[in-house]
Amino acid sequence: MLSCRTCGGELREFCDFGPQPLSSGFLEPDYVGDEFFFRLAVGVCGQCSMVQLIEEVPRHLMFNGHYPYLSSGSATMRKHFEQTAKHFIDTELTGDDAFLVELGCNDGVMLKVIADAGIRHLGVEPSQSVAAVARAYGVQVTTEFFQESSAQQIRAASGPAQVIYAANTICHIPYLDSIFRGVDELLAPDGIFVFEDPYLAEIVDRTSFDQIYDEHFYFFSAVSVQAMAARFGFELVDVERLPVHGGEVRYTIARRGARPASARVAALVAEEHGRDLAGQGTLKQFVGRVEQAREELTTLLRQLKANGQTVVGYGATAKSATVTNYCGIGPDLISFISDTTPNKQGRLTPGSHIPVRSRDAFAAPYPDYALLFAWNHADEIIAKEQEFRKAGGKWILYVPEVRVV
Ligand code: SAM
Ligand code: TMP
Ligand code: ZN
Repeated sequence: MLSCRTCGGELREFCDFGPQPLSSGFLEPDYVGDEFFFRLAVGVCGQCSMVQLIEEVPRHLMFNGHYPYLSSGSATMRKHFEQTAKHFIDTELTGDDAFLVELGCNDGVMLKVIADAGIRHLGVEPSQSVAAVARAYGVQVTTEFFQESSAQQIRAASGPAQVIYAANTICHIPYLDSIFRGVDELLAPDGIFVFEDPYLAEIVDRTSFDQIYDEHFYFFSAVSVQAMAARFGFELVDVERLPVHGGEVRYTIARRGARPASARVAALVAEEHGRDLAGQGTLKQFVGRVEQAREELTTLLRQLKANGQTVVGYGATAKSATVTNYCGIGPDLISFISDTTPNKQGRLTPGSHIPVRSRDAFAAPYPDYALLFAWNHADEIIAKEQEFRKAGGKWILYVPEVRVV
């Protein structure tokens, strides 16, 4: 029997994407050797409703000195994190010696605002490549994985934190027992642990199957997070839906009884129960739509190629690893992917081995079609690439369904 990584209940597999590489494992063009693959399959816990990967990729293979993703790569996300920092400054960090800890601070896009306001802070970021960028901004960072032992050290050195914040990081961490024990060590008695991650209901509703890849171990819902918090003596006291990254929820967790729970928690929990979000029927239908999207996308790309049209990718996202490898999309169908991230350019995409080139390559000359892998930044990208449309170019999207716009 497979068991749930958080509660030990029975885990039922409902989805299998086959062998997949490390989603951020971009390769040198002259790379030879065995590329790492694992079986990307997803299950749901019959006891606590937590949706999770079946296989766990060792964390040092994903988060290390080569981790390329930079959080400040999108204007929308820069604004989002600036607003988030200002919100904490105005609400939770008003005391004399307030202290905020961010898990997975990446390049410091959020913490820079906290640092500039002169507030005590610490980023916990195991990927040396991005931690170095944050330090260059004047942000305090410790280069390690957050877990119970690192939390104890931070508490001993710096005292309790009023806020522990994590964006797009908690869903990356299989060992949530150690995380919650660490939060218990580090959080002030009336402090809050706030994290935001892609929301299961959005993934199901938009068929955004590319949110499923090695780093995304959990797909949270209000029901599963509430159950998890309760097991560690905490309570889910607020939920807020966020439009970023294709639809997320920000969960606010406090020590049990420390803060009143907002009515939004009960409302979202009731909504999830009402639609049987983690039910076998719901998840089976999702898998049917995923298979349909694969069929439609590959048929479209093959037709375009047969008609002599040029197609490139836009945004070598971690998400694109699942799309290209699951759909069998290689350099024969997409000549290259343009991406602004320096550490992805000049390399090959993991598993599918499509060259990654700079933004300049996109316009030299413009292709007939661009497959928008960074669909979560569609508004920002389509607005700034208006010349592509004027030159006759068309965008291909596959979320929430395959279409050309
Ligand atoms: N918070 C940023 C954002 O939202 O853009 C970065 C998100 S990035 C997808 C996930 C980050 O979590 C990576 O920078 C990774 O190194 C970090 N990470 C992974 N495991 C961690 C852990 N146990 N403690 C702290 N950070 C971790
Ligand atoms: P994300 O969807 O995980 O945030 O990744 C977005 C990727 O797309 C990242 O590699 C940066 C890249 N990107 C561009 O190349 N151009 C852009 O305008 C934006 C917003 C992102
Ligand atoms: Zn469970």
